[in-house]
Parts: sequence; C-alpha cells; structure tokens
Amino acid sequence: MQLERILHAQGFGSRKLCRSLIRHGEVSVNGQPCDFPFEEFDTEQLEFTVRGVTWQYRTQAYLMLNKPAHYECSHKPQHHPSIFSLLPAPLLERGVQCIGRLDEDTTGLLLLSDDGQFIHRMSSPKWKVPKVYAVTTKHPLDDAQLQALLQGVQLLDEPGPIAALAAEQQDSHLLHLTLAEGKYHQVKRMLAAVSNRVEALQRIRIGALDLPADLAPGEWRWLDADMLAAASPQRSA
Ligand code: URA
Repeated sequence: MQLERILHAQGFGSRKLCRSLIRHGEVSVNGQPCDFPFEEFDTEQLEFTVRGVTWQYRTQAYLMLNKPAHYECSHKPQHHPSIFSLLPAPLLERGVQCIGRLDEDTTGLLLLSDDGQFIHRMSSPKWKVPKVYAVTTKHPLDDAQLQALLQGVQLLDEPGPIAALAAEQQDSHLLHLTLAEGKYHQVKRMLAAVSNRVEALQRIRIGALDLPADLAPGEWRWLDADMLAAASPQRSA
C-alpha cells in the first residue's frame, strides 16, 4: 500500500495532509525516513513513525481504557470531559467508539474499536458477554441480599426479574457482581432493589479479560490477539 494511503487509513487525516506530512520529512517506516508519499509498503507487521511517535499498522483498532471517574462516555459530554479526550487524535479520526457505556462516576474496563461488526456483536443481547463489577456498598452486605441478586430482582420498566450470574462477597461492603446484560444503571438499580446502595463502582472484567493492574486510570492500551479473544463473546446455548 502507498505510504500516503497507509497514513490516511491509520487516522492521520486527509490524503493531502498525509502527503504533506511525508514530504516534510515527518515520517519514517520501519526505522527508515521516507519522504516519497507513493512508496509502496507491505502493511503486515509495518511500524511507522509520525512526528516522533511510533505506530504499528492495524487494519482495525481494538483497545481498552481504564476509565477514570468524572469522565463521560460520549462525544458530546454535558458535565464532564469526554473519555475520547484521553485518546490520541488518529484513533478519534478513524472513528473509534466505546462498546457500551459506563456511568460518569463508574471507573474501570472499557473497550473501544472502529470495527462496526465487533461493536455490534459485543453489544448484541444474542451474545451474553459476562461483565464483572467491583461494587462498594453503603450498607453492609448480607446473605439475603446476595440470594436476592442471584435469584433475580424486579427493576422498574423491565418485563421480568433480572438475576446476577454471580455475586461474591469480598468483605462487609465489597461485592463482585457478574452480569450478563448491560442495562441502564443496572448495578445501581439492582443494589437499590435489595435495599442497599452503590458507593463506588468499578468494572474489573469483560468476558475473560481482566482490567490489568498496571493500567492506570486514564491510560489506554491496544488489545493483542489473546486479549481480544478473551473479551470476545461466546454464543450462548
Ligand atoms: N451499572 C451501573 O449502574 N453503572 C454502570 O456504569 C455500569 C453498570
């Protein structure tokens, strides 16, 4: 693929802008400067550097973000900055979207991609991708609450009770709750339905993909093939 097209596909702006970047000597490929926009490269395993930042060519973008509190999962945030402001411009330019949303005050694992089919599959109710939340509660947890969460609680405007896949108490005020759905404010509504209240909420796992301990709030990371497979849905029976 021509270098100009490569940069364009990777989110570095219009073909004209990419051509100008290359002609101005801002681009290297596999460590070698290249100022000819029409030079052809094999995109497999290709590494290129634009203005000192090195990128790997990726046909599609799959990434994870450790969402900090007080960021909104929206391109048009109302009261807080957008999580998209935490990502570099080329990722935004190539149309990366978040897969599901976390509330403004929820922290933790958020997946993003520009692969429409992947986003659709991850979000479809046909595929049940379990998500685990670390829930800090206002009141001490008790067995009756855990049993109710596991047996199903009736939420307003839902046709029937919704049950957690797992509810594992960690200490008096900390619960790991696994859900198959991603309904609006679901964890907060489920805890309210058992007469408790969420004080803090963090998503710690999607499918078999854990929030890495070394990914600080506000940091993002590419998903490698193993991470992507771990996060991907298994068709439910
Ligand atoms: N459930 C909630 O209540 N909030 C979230 O952000 C995610 C799940």
